Amino acid sequence: MSRTTPAAPLNQTGPRRIRVAADSPYDVVVGRGLVERVAECLPESVCRVAVIYSDHQEATARQVGAQVEESGFRPLLVPVPTGEAAKTVAVAAACWERLGSEGFTRSDAVVSVGGGATTDLAGFVAATFLRGLTVVHVPTTLLGMVDAAVGGKTGINTDHGKNLVGAFHEPLAVLCDLDTLATLPSAELASGLAEVVKCGFVADPAILRLLETDPPAATDPASPVLRELVERAIAVKAEVVSADLREATSTGSAVGREALNYGHTMGHAIERVEQYGVRHGEAVAIGMVFVAELSRLAGRLEAPLVGRHRDVLAGVGLPTTYRAGRWPELLRAMRMDKKSRGDRLRFVILEEVARPAILEAPSPDLLEAAYQRLCSDRG
Ligand SMILES: NC(=O)c1ccc[n+]([C@@H]2O[C@H](COP(=O)([O-])OP(=O)(O)OC[C@H]3O[C@@H](n4cnc5c(N)ncnc54)[C@H](O)[C@@H]3O)[C@@H](O)[C@H]2O)c1
Ligand SMILES: [Zn+2]
Repeated sequence: MSRTTPAAPLNQTGPRRIRVAADSPYDVVVGRGLVERVAECLPESVCRVAVIYSDHQEATARQVGAQVEESGFRPLLVPVPTGEAAKTVAVAAACWERLGSEGFTRSDAVVSVGGGATTDLAGFVAATFLRGLTVVHVPTTLLGMVDAAVGGKTGINTDHGKNLVGAFHEPLAVLCDLDTLATLPSAELASGLAEVVKCGFVADPAILRLLETDPPAATDPASPVLRELVERAIAVKAEVVSADLREATSTGSAVGREALNYGHTMGHAIERVEQYGVRHGEAVAIGMVFVAELSRLAGRLEAPLVGRHRDVLAGVGLPTTYRAGRWPELLRAMRMDKKSRGDRLRFVILEEVARPAILEAPSPDLLEAAYQRLCSDRG
C-alpha cells in the first residue's frame, strides 16, 4: 500500500476515500447516498455536465442531473443502451454528435451512470471528445465499482473483439454508491464478487477471510461486510494501478498490473467459446480454478489452496467447474487472447495467497491436465 492512502479505520457511516496515485491523483469514494453528492466532485470551472447513463438507470441519472443542476451546473441527460450494446462505435459517435451539437467545450464534464459497460463507453467518449473531457464515474454494478471504473482504462468493442479500441483516461473521481446495488440481480452481484475474490487471492488475505466467515453477508448489498469487501478490492486495484499506470510488461518477480489478470486468460477463452453467453465474473471464477490447478501441477501451489479457491467461489454462488470436451477450442481461444504473445501462452499463477507469479509457455500436457482437473471438479 505504499503509494495509495493507508487504510483508514473502517467507518460504517461516512464515505471512505481510496486514493489512486495516477498522473493526476484521484479518489474512489465508497459509501451511501453518494448519488446526491456528484456536484461536490466537479470543479467550479465546469459549466455543462453530460450525464451519460445506461437507459435502465434512468432514475439514478435523473437524480444526478437534478443534483448537479441545484449546484449551478447545466446538466444534459444522454441515455445509451444498457450493457455491452453501449460499447459500439455507433453509440460513441452518437454521443460525440450530441456533445458537439450542444456546444460542449473543454471546460465541460461527463458523468457516467451505469455498469462497467456504461462507464467504459462514457469514459471513452470523455477521453476522445475534444481530446479529453473531465469524467466522473458513478458505477452501479459491483463489477463497475471494484474494477471497470477504477484504473483509467476505457474502451469499446468492434466486430473483431471486445475492448479492441480504447484509451487510458483517468477520471476526476469515482463515486461508488452502495445504495445503487440494492436493485442489482444476485447473478450480477456474484459476477462482481469474482473480481473481489481475485483481489483476495492475489493481494489481500483479509478478503478471503471475510468471504469465508459469512458468505451470505458478502452477497447482501446492505451489509457492512460487502462494504468492506468493496473497499478492500478497490484498495487492491488502486495499489496495483498506482504502481503500474500504463500496464507496462511485468519484469522479474514484480507482476505489476498483470496480477489483476489472474484467472482471466482462461476466463476470456470461456467467454469466447460460450459466445459471451456467460457473465464475465462467472468465466473468471472458472478461470481461477483452472489456473490454481495449473499452479499446483507446475509445483508452485499447495493443494489445499486449490480447494480454497473452489470453496470461496462456491460460497458466493460462483461456478467452479466446466464442461468436458472443450479443450481444443479453449486452447485456440487462449492463443488469441491479446495478453498472449504469439503462440507463447502466459499465465498469472499463484504461489501462495498474495504471491502471484508468471508462468510462461507451460507445456500443452500440463495445460490439458489442469483442464481435466477443472472439469472433474476435484478438490
Ligand atoms: N475498463 C476496465 O478496466 C474494465 C475492467 C473490467 C470490466 N470492464 C468492462 O465492464 C463491463 C462489464 O461490467 P458490468 O458487469 O458492470 O456490466 P454491464 O454494464 O453490462 O451491467 C450488467 C447488467 O447490470 C444491469 N445493471 C447495472 N446497474 C444496475 C443496478 N444498479 N440495478 C440493476 N441492474 C443494473 C445492466 O443493465 C446490465 O444488464 C464489460 O464491458 C467489461 O469489458 C472494464
Ligand atoms: Zn475481469
